[in-house]
Amino acid sequence: MSDCSFDLHIGYVRFKNPIALAPMAGITDSAFANHYAGDAGLVVLGAFNLDKASIAVASKLAARGRKEFISDEPMELIKKEIRAVTSGSVVAVNVRSTTLEPLIKAAKIIKEEGAILELNAHCKQPEMLEAGIGEALLHDLPRLSAWIKKIKETGVVLSVKVRANVVNDVELARIIDKSGADIIHVDAVMEGSGADLDAILNYRDATRLFFIGNNSVTDFEAAKDMFSRGADMVSVARGVMENPELIRELVESVSSYQQSTGWYNTPKHVCSDGDFRALAFCCLPVKPCPVHEKFRKLGYTAEEFARTKLEFSKGTMLEFGGDTCFGSLVWCCKISKPCWIRDGVLNTIGLSDVEYMKLKKQLAEYVLDHARIQVNESY
Ligand SMILES: Cc1cc2nc3c(=O)[nH]c(=O)nc-3n(C[C@H](O)[C@H](O)[C@H](O)COP(=O)(O)O)c2cc1C
Ligand code: SF4
Ligand code: SF4
Repeated sequence: MSDCSFDLHIGYVRFKNPIALAPMAGITDSAFANHYAGDAGLVVLGAFNLDKASIAVASKLAARGRKEFISDEPMELIKKEIRAVTSGSVVAVNVRSTTLEPLIKAAKIIKEEGAILELNAHCKQPEMLEAGIGEALLHDLPRLSAWIKKIKETGVVLSVKVRANVVNDVELARIIDKSGADIIHVDAVMEGSGADLDAILNYRDATRLFFIGNNSVTDFEAAKDMFSRGADMVSVARGVMENPELIRELVESVSSYQQSTGWYNTPKHVCSDGDFRALAFCCLPVKPCPVHEKFRKLGYTAEEFARTKLEFSKGTMLEFGGDTCFGSLVWCCKISKPCWIRDGVLNTIGLSDVEYMKLKKQLAEYVLDHARIQVNESY
């Protein structure tokens, strides 16, 4: 499987594709990752418990029958586990601790091993909340923010794993972003069942951080629902136990989708609830439609928005298309929307669908970069 079509890197890590194994305590260790997730771009091991208090909580849960990774030498265990992943996937280590010091110690080791530290702000068993770990961090945002800043001082690539719909998701995304984390990993769980796709969109429009969407992905359609709402990567946990081939299947599908479209996480159009990146596909803003509210949130007037898109198109193939609805490809729709006029122009100028979509991706970044109000400040 080709791994050169994705351009996914953060600091010292580079992912071969946007599919991840999500952590499951007592289950996702190096042996599990090698066996079920050899093709994944990222494997998240753990959770590992770093201090006496979190080890005590995990031991209590284990006594009740829950699977947990428990060791008196957690730092040694982490080092050994990272080294035992032999697949070439990037490794992240999901960790719990009641105090900061062990997190700093782990961060230094994890950085040295070229891996990612994932701070667990997710687990919600009553014993964990009582001890102040896992989801308890979401109810103490000043502590979460201070810990992120301190951990980042080590230079480790840092992911924060959270659960959606616990606190205000937009505020949470911004706090994690502004505190300096590199990745936000969101379990978009919804009370009842399934993934909350609106939550995925809300996170995407609140931060430009690398964003991993998670929950209930058991096939490529479900992964695509997350990608098209802005997830940079999609992770799977329970689905892997139901279908040991799941990760391989997802990697295969997303790779061929990337090869045929050039933009594996293309947004939906703004009028179909697309995120900010979808402004790259919007028309010249001359009619009343949702585009106005969308660019206003980024501080653009209609004139500035139009000027910014035209500025980008200068000297690129998007300048062509005199016969299209608004006189240039810069205003044209996604390649998946059938249009014989646009396709005729692409054919005439010799621009492939993939190259067209790659230009639209760059245009989306340009529109976001040049906004007066940055995404993590917009309202
Ligand atoms: C048995 C089990 C153990 C889990 N342990 C952890 C954990 O230690 N840390 C964590 O961040 N998430 C943990 N999770 C949550 C998963 O990483 C994931 O967010 C959740 O299961 C939803 O994704 P899925 O629908 O693909 O399973 C656990 C999930 C399961 C099923
Ligand atoms: S400008 Fe066009 S693509 Fe954008 S929201 Fe309006 S109708 Fe939809
Ligand atoms: S020419 Fe086709 S692709 Fe371009 S804006 Fe009109 S309908 Fe959309």
